[in-house]
Amino acid sequence: MKFKKKILCIGAGYVGGPSMAMIAYKCPDYRITVVDINPDRIDAWNSSELPIYEPGLEQIVKKTRGKNLFFDKDIENQIKENDIIFVSVHTPTKTYGTGADMTADLQYWEKTARQILKYSRSSKIVIEKSTLPVKTALAMEKILSSAKSKFNFEVLSNPEFMAEGTAISDLENPDRVLIGSHETKNGLKARAELIKLYSRWVPKENIITSNIWSSELSKLVANAFLAQRVSSINSISALCEKTDADVSEVAKAVGMDKRIGDKFLKAGIGFGGSCFKKDILNLVYLCRFYDLKEVASYWENVVRINEYQQERFVSNILHSMFGTLAGKKICILGFAFKADTGDTRESPAIYISQKLLMEHAELIISDPKALKNAAVDLSGIKGKVKYIEDPYQAAAGCHALVILTDWDTYRKLDFHKIYKSMVKPAFIFDGRNIIDHKKCFSIGFNVYPVGKPALSHFKV
Ligand code: NAD
Ligand code: UGA
Repeated sequence: MKFKKKILCIGAGYVGGPSMAMIAYKCPDYRITVVDINPDRIDAWNSSELPIYEPGLEQIVKKTRGKNLFFDKDIENQIKENDIIFVSVHTPTKTYGTGADMTADLQYWEKTARQILKYSRSSKIVIEKSTLPVKTALAMEKILSSAKSKFNFEVLSNPEFMAEGTAISDLENPDRVLIGSHETKNGLKARAELIKLYSRWVPKENIITSNIWSSELSKLVANAFLAQRVSSINSISALCEKTDADVSEVAKAVGMDKRIGDKFLKAGIGFGGSCFKKDILNLVYLCRFYDLKEVASYWENVVRINEYQQERFVSNILHSMFGTLAGKKICILGFAFKADTGDTRESPAIYISQKLLMEHAELIISDPKALKNAAVDLSGIKGKVKYIEDPYQAAAGCHALVILTDWDTYRKLDFHKIYKSMVKPAFIFDGRNIIDHKKCFSIGFNVYPVGKPALSHFKV
């Protein structure tokens, strides 16, 4: 079949895979190829077990793979073949040298720019889909123009706003698609090309354009605002616990004000995921770089409150269980950083599990999709850990249940059955406030939610 356009995506991860599958699904007359330096990832995308779990993803991949969606290892040839190149390589926090633990590590990004320059045999539109510090496009342009190539490389910014667990519906019905470009003739032409692509399924009014720097910065700011809401409600959950107020009731009352809105006001064990912390630290670093100390410290506190929330949660477990966890069996329900994903990057469960192990607790970890990643995250950590997918088997013989991921399946557990199988007194620490606390209390559990009064059978 002759395709109308040929599009390449460099980076076959959580963003590259699903976002390109969606383009392929919506544009059957375009050929989409996704490449990666990790050959195992490409093999997995071509197999029956995709490298990531995301509701609805498998169905779309099955419909498009081999027809107009291809996963390929030959980066050099694919750069030559395609005229529109999305770049969605990872941009983790730098762990060494200047800006360590703060700024983005751009080595993968820069390597990609050099590869595009080296292998290109025609002009290209290069689209930043990774989340990057503002002004990164400038560095990309400098690299792409460094060899005085006869080809034109037009760099656009098109940050991705999908969330894991809901990636497919987010990609299908995005609140907005943001395209940043230069206001030059070539910049506007490239911008029009990308608008044409998204217009296949996104309403025109939801496709917005800006200059490149606003686009790059908007992505960091969107994540910072979302994380800030989580930290705001979590900070209030600490106050609720001291005052017998209920954080869910407070969130409902506050969120019903249309100016505030009710989303992202669920108190819990703090935000995880590969991006919130990294992107805020990136913002903080940028502010420091431009000598905006007060702005930097304002945003840094969003991360600090997140750490505080996790510390508070562990210390609550320790104190409620009579000040010692040594030799006690604790069942961790959920290791993924949120429901409906197997991703455990920056999951609060990692920190919480490590702290519980340091108290010499024995952990039995359960999760429907994240056990493989959990085992990698905790490898090398001293202590007794078992991984059991079935929550009933995992809980049997334990002293406490600790709910760390908001999987729907945990709401529906038979807590009568679980209670019978546990050591008494039995405890539940609901780090996501997802189960029926009163019901579990009436079964016999001592129940400790976040930001709500504890329900305990102890008289003193
Ligand atoms: P990821 O680690 O899942 O995927 C990145 C992939 O890029 C990896 O498979 C890696 O092998 C590959 N790669 C690195 N260098 C390469 C190179 N030179 N050539 C070819 N492949 C290369 O990361 P991700 O979660 O998909 O995130 C990618 C970017 O998107 C990040 O900047 C992130 O901040 C941003 N983002 C992520 C999400 C999300 O939900 N995960 C959402 C929006 C934006
Ligand atoms: C987030 C953003 O929502 C996306 O828009 C963005 O594209 C993405 O980061 C990114 O840049 O990577 P994601 O991290 O996948 O998406 O998931 P979220 O739904 O935002 O949840 C992040 C964390 O906050 C999770 O640990 C979640 O449990 C926690 N959270 C969220 C709460 O504790 N309370 C809430 O009310 C909402």
